[in-house]
Amino acid sequence: MGNSLLKKLYSPEEFKKQGEKLLTEITTHISKTTTGKSSKTLTWNTPDKELLFWKTFLKEGKEEDFFPEILKRTTHTHHPKYVGHQVSAPAPITLLTAMTSALLNNGMAVYEMGMAPSAIEKVVTGIICDKIGYDDQSSGLLTSGGTLANLTALLSARKAKIPQDIWNEGYNKPLGIMVCEQAHYCIDRAAKIMGLGEKGIVKIPSKTNFSMDISQLEVSYQAATEKGIKVFAIVGSAPSTATGAYDDLNAIANFANEKDIWFHVDGAHGGAAIFSDKYKHLLSGIEKSDSVVIDGHKMMLMPTITTALLFRNKLRAQHTFSQKADYLLNDEVEEDWINSGKKTFECTKTMMCMHWYILFKFYGEKVFNEYVTRQYDLAKDFEEILVADPNFELAASPMSNILCFRYLDSSKNDKDLNDLNARIRQNLLEDGEFYLVQTRLSGVHYLRTSLMNPFTTIHHLTALLSKIKEVALTIK
Ligand SMILES: Cc1ncc(COP(=O)(O)O)c(C=O)c1O
Repeated sequence: MGNSLLKKLYSPEEFKKQGEKLLTEITTHISKTTTGKSSKTLTWNTPDKELLFWKTFLKEGKEEDFFPEILKRTTHTHHPKYVGHQVSAPAPITLLTAMTSALLNNGMAVYEMGMAPSAIEKVVTGIICDKIGYDDQSSGLLTSGGTLANLTALLSARKAKIPQDIWNEGYNKPLGIMVCEQAHYCIDRAAKIMGLGEKGIVKIPSKTNFSMDISQLEVSYQAATEKGIKVFAIVGSAPSTATGAYDDLNAIANFANEKDIWFHVDGAHGGAAIFSDKYKHLLSGIEKSDSVVIDGHKMMLMPTITTALLFRNKLRAQHTFSQKADYLLNDEVEEDWINSGKKTFECTKTMMCMHWYILFKFYGEKVFNEYVTRQYDLAKDFEEILVADPNFELAASPMSNILCFRYLDSSKNDKDLNDLNARIRQNLLEDGEFYLVQTRLSGVHYLRTSLMNPFTTIHHLTALLSKIKEVALTIK
């Protein structure tokens, strides 16, 4: 190779040198964060300052400082005081699968560009289908995130339940889906992408515990039908994002069956509870669904981004993007599992199946049982402390590892309490010891914790509450 820069770029020796140094830094990071030895989960910087830093670094920064600066300037999901958004602290072994996927860069659209990962994906999705309780007619795929997987499932639902060939010919009659008002916003987004419009999103009210109010299903369906909307699918959240409340999947399954509409389960967060002996009852009825989404990068200990989309009927997995009208699908046709690109939005995707496989192979599905059960148990313990402390109020009893609560001050009205809780959260963000998030529920501002980290204990959560009280006093 004549070109010296390209030669340097691909130099194995150069890579080894940089790689060994980074491995040491990452190992130290894992050790310092998981043990809580580093004092902060994040070192807050304003967007303007951060932008300036990276502009300057490009010109003046030292190459060897690049990875350490990245580590310093990001939020540490491995820290036990990370109780924020729903992303995992990835199991270290999955850093190696991520790296191998990046090295090989087999895009998987066709079999010969990913022989092993195509087969591995089939094995992994088969395990998840079994766990859901689907029979051997089921199948699945992996795709880049819950948002994309939910959209894929709803496209598949439309193709299955609307007799016209919308894929090829378009459609101008009103169609709709039913979903609880608490569902993740990506369901609304999927509906809008599909051209259903606002009126095509039939919102089911929630109960006081923020799960779908099943008693409203019939009335909502009838109201939509009277407006001329043909409902073709219903989505159950398992659980919803803001509060972690599971919808009653059995009731939704019965309703979907009665109306002959598609039943989709958005289990992006808590579908993983199929692996928990103690909590799988929350998903009772999931086996009657037509499709299920489970994110690997949320409650399955994997890095961003890998999502499983499972179908009860394996032919549905491959008809979503097919040019053929649904009525031309032949149940006798063998499933075409080897050409991944036909079934997914992506043409090229990462070899994301390796994360799932390596965890199943090296640790077994028991690791998910242990993890999900531990995190959901911890939420129950945290609830006990919150309920016993008059300084706090819970939004609802947790059904998963997501808890919303607020700091109380009897001298303040509702608006001032909202402001106070928003300021507490901003203070905590800038302080950086803990990382938690916030949400508004029926106009009330809550602090929100997702107990994602397997090293978080009740002592960390008690310390969090003490810190909130301290911070609240400084704000008054
Ligand atoms: C219930 C639910 N569905 C879907 C999503 C979107 O998933 P992703 O971030 O993988 O696109 C989320 C994300 O938080 C979620 O909580």
